Amino acid sequence: MFAEDRKSAIAAIRRHEPKVITLDLGLPPDPANASEGLATLTEIIKLAPHTKVIVITGNTDKANALKSIELGAYDFYQKPIDNDTIGYVVNRAFKLYDLEAENRKQQSGQGPFSRVIGNSPQILHACKIAERVAKTDITTLLSGESGTGKEVFAQTIHEASSRAEKPFIAINCASIPENLLESELFGYEKGAFTGANKTTKGKVEFAHGGTLFLDEIGDMPIALQAKMLRFLQERVIERVGGRSEIPVDVRVICATHRDLPKMFADELFREDLYYRVAEMTINIPPLRDREADIILLAKHFLNAFNKEFGRSIKGFSDDAIQALMQHSWSGNIRELQNKLKSAVIMAEANNITSLDLGLMYTETQDEPESFNLKAVREKAESQAIRKAHTLAKENISKTAELLGVTRPTLYNLIDKYQLDDIKNN
Ligand SMILES: Nc1ncnc2c1ncn2[C@@H]1O[C@H](COP(=O)(O)OP(=O)(O)O)[C@@H](O)[C@H]1O
Ligand SMILES: [Mg+2]
Repeated sequence: MFAEDRKSAIAAIRRHEPKVITLDLGLPPDPANASEGLATLTEIIKLAPHTKVIVITGNTDKANALKSIELGAYDFYQKPIDNDTIGYVVNRAFKLYDLEAENRKQQSGQGPFSRVIGNSPQILHACKIAERVAKTDITTLLSGESGTGKEVFAQTIHEASSRAEKPFIAINCASIPENLLESELFGYEKGAFTGANKTTKGKVEFAHGGTLFLDEIGDMPIALQAKMLRFLQERVIERVGGRSEIPVDVRVICATHRDLPKMFADELFREDLYYRVAEMTINIPPLRDREADIILLAKHFLNAFNKEFGRSIKGFSDDAIQALMQHSWSGNIRELQNKLKSAVIMAEANNITSLDLGLMYTETQDEPESFNLKAVREKAESQAIRKAHTLAKENISKTAELLGVTRPTLYNLIDKYQLDDIKNN
């Protein structure tokens, strides 16, 4: 990409966001001087601070070269141009740009785990384990209620692993009829059964080099569990009706909402298979046990559905906040997501109400299990903070004012109750 003056250079930078720019300081309308070049440099650095600018100067122009570095240029290069040297300088700039971009990505939480929304200690803990596990090939079991995000975790582990560029193949053992599951998983040879017109690969083979996600492994028929165990031990498969062993290289992640060890006694799940699939277990806690995530997730889905449905709903009414916090979320994040979807479509006012969510909000908050005064007080305080924060349109000073405390006190309370989503606003 080539630009002949400041204006066209800036336009091109806006459009193409180049990683590296070479800039001659002698630009029209004043090619004999560096002023236009330096002005362009200043503008580039402001517009695209991460871009590597290599300034090209006349061989006597040391002062301007140094001035350029001071302004934020990456390097300077003195004429006359020698192709090899400039090629080397440019290459190095590209490398450095990529390195810095990678660092920024990690720091700003743009990594795979940033799509697991959540600030609760429980979910952060699960993320930490998942991040470690992602670097290895050990077979991992994700256990947790339906809708807690097991599949999201499985995908995230895959994306954070060295297999990220290879396939991620998911199969739900509960949704495929028992008699078809084996051929779905392991494939079949032509003529293996009526209708087997041509040799067909199974999911395991398709996942070669990548990750195989066995969802609802607890629902795998006991007969097939033996074959699964063999595959996990030997890392070879045999297609249905086949005679040869086919080696496959896959990383296996399993998920279940069942308590597998409880199934041993009734011979519904093989104990030996359990130890194979659960080399590492990650528990994904139910949403009701991670209060800190409820509002955060609700806001996340509000933004997402605002975009999807072209709406611009601002937030939640205080009764909606209370209702969200009170609800038992037996369907976990999936239920929350569905509720937010219909609420965003239905809401008539600026804020979503408990009615829009289809949630009943009851004033009575004396939950029988909690007569512990300290716990009651803490819960009431954190709820009051959330409520005030919403009423104050997420303005911290106003929130403190509404609560009748100082800002530092409010910050202390936010830390104490780990209301991180408020602090980060
Ligand atoms: N931490 C999370 N952040 C954002 N969305 C999530 C999160 N966990 C789950 N979801 C969403 O909730 C829904 C249910 O998640 P899923 O992984 O299918 O749960 P499970 O496999 O445990 O039943 C999906 O639409 C998913 O995108
Ligand atoms: Mg699932």
